[in-house]
Amino acid sequence: MPSLDSPFAPENTAVYVRWRQAKLQDYPVNAAALRVEVNDPRALSETEQRRLVQLCRKTNMVIYASRLGGLADKQIPRRLGEQFGLVRLDSNLLADEDAVTSLQVTPEKSGRGYIPYSNRRLLWHTDGYYNPPEQRVHAFVLHCVSPAAQGGENALLDPEIAYLTLRDENPEYIRAFMAPDAMTIPANTEEGGKSRPAQTGPVFSIDTATGSLHMRYTARTRSIEWKQDTATRRAVQALEQLLAGDSPYVFHYRLAAGEGLLCNNVLHNRTEFADEVDKGMSRLIYRARYYDRIRGTGVQDV
Ligand SMILES: [Fe+2]
Repeated sequence: MPSLDSPFAPENTAVYVRWRQAKLQDYPVNAAALRVEVNDPRALSETEQRRLVQLCRKTNMVIYASRLGGLADKQIPRRLGEQFGLVRLDSNLLADEDAVTSLQVTPEKSGRGYIPYSNRRLLWHTDGYYNPPEQRVHAFVLHCVSPAAQGGENALLDPEIAYLTLRDENPEYIRAFMAPDAMTIPANTEEGGKSRPAQTGPVFSIDTATGSLHMRYTARTRSIEWKQDTATRRAVQALEQLLAGDSPYVFHYRLAAGEGLLCNNVLHNRTEFADEVDKGMSRLIYRARYYDRIRGTGVQDV
């Protein structure tokens, strides 16, 4: 579907209305409804695979629950992803060499200000919001090897629902968020480390090839510059209110050992957590980010 026919183009009212109705019909009501038990994520059965795609098509995310808790094998997220057409891995500055990142408390990295490697809370964001357009993160997998002793819960929101909610409230929010200069991530000029140039781009964009929606967002207030006009400011406020409120579409889930999240880069945050290393309880999550979208979950498949 070319972007001109996409329900996400602000001028396409009729297509949007049809898409919206289909989207909201039988939409899951909580995270438990997103949970699917699977035997081995590295080699899913046809039935398991179909069920996972079905849910992702609806909500852009699914939680799989396997029996592989405690198994520190990076092939788990990797091979899971491959079964959904996720093959082009994004390697960020701090990813391990094989581009699957181990998220755990790492004093060296957290000391440099990288919160994902600390036990502090993470504010709402989509992954790779600082990436250039040709490296948009369309999907990611989080696989939990072991949870923290306490905390480390995620909140999750389907970006299409964020779009829908904002568009229903005021289509001007969408126009502001689609402006190519809506949001700038200043250059990262970390001393001694690798750096990246400033990235200016929209919050919402439509993939020209598929008509699918992409979202870049961070709730951070440092290291981000919003376009300085009223329309953008209002749109940002509306989104902040949605994320801070008690929307029934915001799902809360704490991944247990062996469980994982497969998603089309949904909005997410994380509560702070506490490890108890001496009791063998420390949080280890593998994260794989992809330039691909989950196969079979395009807007034309809905
Ligand atoms: Fe993230």
